[in-house]
Amino acid sequence: MLIFNNKADLATVLSDYFNVKSTVGFVPTMGALHEGHLSLLRQSVSENDVTVISIFVNPTQFNNTEDLDKYPRTLDADVEKIKLVSDAIIVFAPSVNEMYDGNTISSHFSFDGLENQMEGAQRPGHFDGVGTIVKKLFEIVKPSNAYFGEKDFQQLQIVKKMVEKAEMPVVITGCPISREASGLAMSSRNERLSVGDRDKAAFIYKTLKEVREQFENQSIETVKTYIYDAFAAHPEFTMDYFEIAAEDDLKPATVKENRKYRAFIAVFLSNVRLIDNISLN
Ligand code: PAJ
Repeated sequence: MLIFNNKADLATVLSDYFNVKSTVGFVPTMGALHEGHLSLLRQSVSENDVTVISIFVNPTQFNNTEDLDKYPRTLDADVEKIKLVSDAIIVFAPSVNEMYDGNTISSHFSFDGLENQMEGAQRPGHFDGVGTIVKKLFEIVKPSNAYFGEKDFQQLQIVKKMVEKAEMPVVITGCPISREASGLAMSSRNERLSVGDRDKAAFIYKTLKEVREQFENQSIETVKTYIYDAFAAHPEFTMDYFEIAAEDDLKPATVKENRKYRAFIAVFLSNVRLIDNISLN
């Protein structure tokens, strides 16, 4: 298995693939890999001649240093998991200096307002950080196809917007959310939950499924009231936001039109922030 820390070495190896017009699939991650990440990798392997995974905890997308410091770094275990998917996957695990050259600041992006909703509103600068690192990584890897999880649906739409606006020659594919048997969306942050809290956290997806059922016949306002009441009855959760929004602009919807909608939620459980979403129609 090839593991690179250096972008020039990676680019040299990948240039051989470009010369023979092979497709390069790319899965950007921050490591601490779980089944959700591996499902993206499997899709890339099945659809491309070669797959690259990046493992890089990107400092510019974190809002506070404590969150950045606490982020798990488990490269050796990650590499073992990647090998089980395929030995032919290329790993890119650069240092902060390799990616930012001593200048860890974000570029500023406009994503046509997508960045002002939900995660963008709660985490100022977060999507500038994501845009900055994804753009840098795309410039190094030059993927034909890149894979992002619907778990971070707003991020997926933002990356699609960035690619469209900058006319980058890469196809962005959204991949379904991998869940625990309980329905809890897989996340590196789940590791920070106690066993008891992991059980409790199953309530999030259970409630989202109820939203999907209600959405067909009820007004958006009624559904929202139902959700806020449901979580108020479970004080172990602190709601950060719950929104129903059209998939294309992600603005909070008030009335239903002929568009695709999703419900989005962010809650705290024992100080761990969990996000999830579900397609409604
Ligand atoms: P990270 O949180 O490591 O996630 C890497 C990719 O895995 C993202 O596309 C994310 O949506 C996807 N993913 C995470 N959990 C998933 C799940 N349960 N099911 C399906 N896909 C899942 O997202 C990032 O890293 C960073 O912001 C990054 C894009 C790498 C830029 O730094």
